[in-house]
Amino acid sequence: MGYNFSKRTKHFTLPKQWASMRVAKQLEKETGNKIIHCEKGDYQGPDFETPQHILDATVDALEAGYVRYDPGPGLPELREYIATETMKDRRPGTNPEEVIITAGAKNALTMSLLTILEDGDEVVFPNPGYPPDEVWAKYANAKIQHTPLNKGDWQYDIAKLDKMVTDKTKLLIINTPQRPNGQLVENPEEIAEIVLKHPDLLVITDEIFSQVIYDGQKHNTISSIPEMRDRCIVIDTWSKTYAMTGWRIGFAVANEEIITKLSIFLQDSITNVAAFIQRAAFEAVSGPQDWTIAKRELLQHKRDLMVKGLNEVPGIECVTPPGSFYCFPDISGTGLTSQEFTDKLVVEAGVAVVAGTAFGTQGEGFVRITFAISDDDIHEGIERMKKLFLNK
Ligand SMILES: Cc1ncc(COP(=O)(O)O)c(C=O)c1O
Repeated sequence: MGYNFSKRTKHFTLPKQWASMRVAKQLEKETGNKIIHCEKGDYQGPDFETPQHILDATVDALEAGYVRYDPGPGLPELREYIATETMKDRRPGTNPEEVIITAGAKNALTMSLLTILEDGDEVVFPNPGYPPDEVWAKYANAKIQHTPLNKGDWQYDIAKLDKMVTDKTKLLIINTPQRPNGQLVENPEEIAEIVLKHPDLLVITDEIFSQVIYDGQKHNTISSIPEMRDRCIVIDTWSKTYAMTGWRIGFAVANEEIITKLSIFLQDSITNVAAFIQRAAFEAVSGPQDWTIAKRELLQHKRDLMVKGLNEVPGIECVTPPGSFYCFPDISGTGLTSQEFTDKLVVEAGVAVVAGTAFGTQGEGFVRITFAISDDDIHEGIERMKKLFLNK
């Protein structure tokens, strides 16, 4: 029997950026050999367990009865904390009604895209960018445009962006620190100038790595520009800041009218984010921040280890990313395309990475490599790459 699915899901395919993970898993199963997992967008190994005080707060919340439906935009104490503390510099003067707690940043992104976009609306994505966003833009039947980021420093090309954005553009997507390359968007003021020329244009600013920035650099967001305050939906998550990827909790901050729409969407879809998870998230943000500070230092060390190692591999050049837990080295010197490199590396050396093209055409010649893994795996992964490309 053939199922008659909605035409809107015609473009649904398994996520490209997880293709490497699927291949690596299969190879591990078939060969029994150890694969070095640099392809995951997640923390791995004992260096990155969720902090104990957050686990304790979860158990306390379960025992205290936070186990029922709790429809709505989130626990008042959590919305209040995000509004007054987390957003203090990022969007001064935020009130709790402008905050919604979501099932991860992805849930906030999905709801925002589906709430704003409709048939024929133009939406501008960075290239490379975050593919799941595009799934929902397509679902809404919006017209997707890609603004190519400059290869190498991965900044928005202001002249190109200015030309692309018109009064038909309804939404612009920004991601800083960027995925897949770890660069910070350095020119939010110039982007804001373009946005402000178009009275109805909104911005989604995806800031999931806001706390994973190195060398003492600070997170800078377009939403802190006063005129941009009500033009932005700021999206962030507990996933990366507190190694809570599997807990599925994040938030969005925007004008109350937008948040009310998102709240209806949330209540009519998932009802609410589990209340005991929200209590854990409250402990995470309002409790001691030692873990996040220590892990940032540890990640910086791992980043330096990975970048140094990659630059010793023939054919690979890697700049040091100021944020995120990804390197995005240029592998074009190996003579392979991103996909060829990715396939060869996992099959012949047992190191899994993600082809840059999984994030857009501008990713050709690059691969994404996660360094949130053990030091031993970083060393082993680099040694395997050296062996493979020295003997080419
Ligand atoms: C750019 C970007 N946005 C959103 C997400 C999803 O985050 P969450 O785990 O909070 O859903 C990810 C996940 O890695 C991401 O890379």
